[in-house]
Amino acid sequence: MNPSIALLTHDASLQSLNTFRLPARAAWFAAIEALPQLAGLIAMPEWKHRRRFVLGGGSNLILTGDFEGLMLHVRISGRALVAESADAWFVRAGAGEIWPDFVRWTLERGWPGLENLALIPGTVGAAPIQNIGAYGLEVAERFQQLEAVDLETDEMVTFDRAACQFGYRDSVFKREAAGRYLITAVTFRLPRRWQPVTGYADVARELEARNIAKPTAWDVFDAVVAIRSRKLPDPARIPNAGSFFKNPVVDATVFIRLIAQHPDLPHYPKPDGRVKLAAGWLIERCGWKGRNIGSVGVYEHQALVLVNRGGARGEDVLRLAEAIRTSVRAAFGVELEPEPVILGSQPVGCVGG
Ligand code: EPU
Repeated sequence: MNPSIALLTHDASLQSLNTFRLPARAAWFAAIEALPQLAGLIAMPEWKHRRRFVLGGGSNLILTGDFEGLMLHVRISGRALVAESADAWFVRAGAGEIWPDFVRWTLERGWPGLENLALIPGTVGAAPIQNIGAYGLEVAERFQQLEAVDLETDEMVTFDRAACQFGYRDSVFKREAAGRYLITAVTFRLPRRWQPVTGYADVARELEARNIAKPTAWDVFDAVVAIRSRKLPDPARIPNAGSFFKNPVVDATVFIRLIAQHPDLPHYPKPDGRVKLAAGWLIERCGWKGRNIGSVGVYEHQALVLVNRGGARGEDVLRLAEAIRTSVRAAFGVELEPEPVILGSQPVGCVGG
């Protein structure tokens, strides 16, 4: 029997496959554990006609309705050191590997470099799509290449760093290439001449509080885990999709007006002269922290995170998000842009982190 056929199911619930625990169904669903299964699906006549969506850990995904197409759930596993050079280890992982487990494993094997990205929910394959980042590091900085299936031509392709066009919470896979590729594996370049990344204020404070002047990779890992556990809700206990908005980047003129009115506004100048602001601060200042609208709330320890208080639906999330955007626009003249992929019955591109 062709193993790919056995995996194709009709009318599947997606509620346990998204970390916000939103109820939605997929008309068709297939779990991909190995490439031959995908090849089997591609060979099926139904393949050509369906809308498709590639699902990873579902940790960066807001489902606002049922999906009428074919949901491809990537569960490809495997992790290995594939090459070594004088200055780096090259570690490759299947796209379905769980990101926080993978980070811990690299440290256990003695290959540091991903410790600032500890505990981020999601899969390895989703990490480059939104260029996950935290505590002073983006995955782009440790990225070597990825392998993917082009769902338009059904061919295997490789992307190097330049081809991914990484930006802040952004890559080509969220723009021109949205929906086109199913990432199967990612290779990371982990530097032998490792230097701790401790510039982020929270990390520096945490290490200082622990009296650690010369941190090891495990020290940074432990500090990041402690900070995240304090500030961010564990999706296993309080369903959420991480930061709900991107931190907005504004022109210098807008920044000068805002800082004159709000001298305590957190801000991060960018090399191009623009300035990144902290969306969490703007939202908190509008009085949203800890508030709920129906079954969706603004997390009490980090206003950038929306949480499911029980029984939330996609439309409830969008209602609260819109109310927040409206008040931040009215108070500061700044537009907030959602960070997760929003998938409803309307056509959109790929991919849930
Ligand atoms: N702040 C507030 N109130 C809040 C939240 C934040 O005043 O409710 C202020 C903080 O005091 C600080 C500034 O805003 O001055 C930044 O806050 P924080 O360090 O918590 O980081 P963030 O900008 O809110 C970003 C990422 C997080 C990542 C952290 C740490 C985005 C959209 N979010 O949050 O990523 O963990 O930095 O690096 O860039 C995610 O993408 O899902 C995510 C959780």
